[in-house]
Amino acid sequence: MVQSCPEASPAKWHLAHTTWFFESFVLREFLPGYRVFNADFQWLFNSYYESFSAIPEKRLRSSFARPALDQVLAYREQVDTAMERLLEQEPEPEALRRTELGANHEEQHQELLLTDILNAFFTNPLRPAYLESRDRFVKKAGEQESIAIPGAPKVQFQRFEGGLREAGHTGGGFCFDNELPRHRVWLEPYAIADRLVTCGEYAEFMADGGYRKPELWLSAGWDAVKSNGWRAPLYWTEENGRWSVFTLHGEQPLEQLEATPVSQVSYYEADAYAHWAGRRLPTEFEWEAAAEGQPIEGNLLDSRYLSPVPALDSAQSKNGTKYGDCWVWTSSAYLGYPGFRPLDGSLGEYNGKFMSGQMVLRGGSCVTPDRHIRSSYRNFFSPETRWQFSGIRLAS
Ligand SMILES: [Fe+2]
Repeated sequence: MVQSCPEASPAKWHLAHTTWFFESFVLREFLPGYRVFNADFQWLFNSYYESFSAIPEKRLRSSFARPALDQVLAYREQVDTAMERLLEQEPEPEALRRTELGANHEEQHQELLLTDILNAFFTNPLRPAYLESRDRFVKKAGEQESIAIPGAPKVQFQRFEGGLREAGHTGGGFCFDNELPRHRVWLEPYAIADRLVTCGEYAEFMADGGYRKPELWLSAGWDAVKSNGWRAPLYWTEENGRWSVFTLHGEQPLEQLEATPVSQVSYYEADAYAHWAGRRLPTEFEWEAAAEGQPIEGNLLDSRYLSPVPALDSAQSKNGTKYGDCWVWTSSAYLGYPGFRPLDGSLGEYNGKFMSGQMVLRGGSCVTPDRHIRSSYRNFFSPETRWQFSGIRLAS
C-alpha cells in the first residue's frame, strides 16, 4: 500500500490497474456475457482516461485500504480466467490488438513496480534492500558468474554521417501509436558516446560546483535546483563527507559505483552535466539512427541485476550496447510525428494527450523487460522527473 511520492503508485494499485485495463478495454466490449467484477472498480482503478470514467486523485492511491489485497487478487483471477476464455474463441482482430496493448501496458507497469518500490524503500528510514545479494554483480542465485568491479573504459565517441534518415517503427510486431508514422528526418553529422556517464564522472561535476553554477543550467532547471534544494542525484546521500547511493540492493558506497552509470537524474541535470562536459544530449533521432539494426542487448530486466552495472570494456559497447542500464534523456521534446493519429476512443488518451512539456527518453533501463524495448520506442517524462532509472549519454 505504500505510496512514497505522488508520481509513484502502491504495488496493490499496479496489480488492480493492469487488471482493470483488460476488463475495461477488452472483456467488457468483446466477451459476450462478461459481468464486471465490481462496478466501483471501473472508476477506482482508472489512471488517467478522462473520457472513460471518473478518476480518483492520483496522489491518494495509498489510501485505498479497501478493497483489500485478497479482493484485488480475486479481481485479477476473474479477469485472467475471462481473458483465457476470450482467447479460446477466436476473438476479432480489434480484441487481439487491445489484448496486445494490454500486455505491453502491463510490462510498463512491471517496470514502474520496481521504480516505485525503490522509492518506497529509500523513504523508509530502515532503507531495506529489495534484493539481498552478497555481490550485486552476481548474476543469479546459484550461478557462478561474478564480475569484479572494473574501472570505466575511456568514453569513445562513435561518429555518424547523418543525412536523410527514417525514424519511427517499421516492420512487424507491436508498437505504440506514438512510434508512428515512420517519416524522414535530416541529421547533420554527429557523434554519440559509446557508454553512459558514470557515477564517478558525475561526482566530478558535483565536486566542480556543478549544482552551484547557474551558467550551466537551463532557466527552469536552475529554478528546480533552488526550489528542490538539489545537490546530487535522487538517491545519493552524504554522511561525514562520504557519499552513498541507494539501490534495489540497498545502500552502496559511491566508491564502489565509480564505473557504474549514474541514474535517477532529471533532464535538467543531464543537460547541465552535458554543458559542463562541453558536449550536449543526443536528439531522439540521433539515438534511433545509432541504435536501429543493432541487437537488443544490454542490462535490461531479464539480466536480473535490477541496477545499472559498469560497462565491461569499450569493445562491448562498440558492438552496439545502446540499450539498458538507464533510459537516456534526449534533447527532443515529446511531440507527435508528422501525421500522428492517436488510437480511437478512450485509448487515444494512452500517449497522445501527454505531448506537451515532456522530453523523450530512449533505450530502456535495468528494469525494462527485454522484449518490451526496441529502437523506435519512445518513453517520456517531464524534465524535472527523477524517480525513474534515467541517465545520461553524451553527444556532439
Ligand atoms: Fe497504466
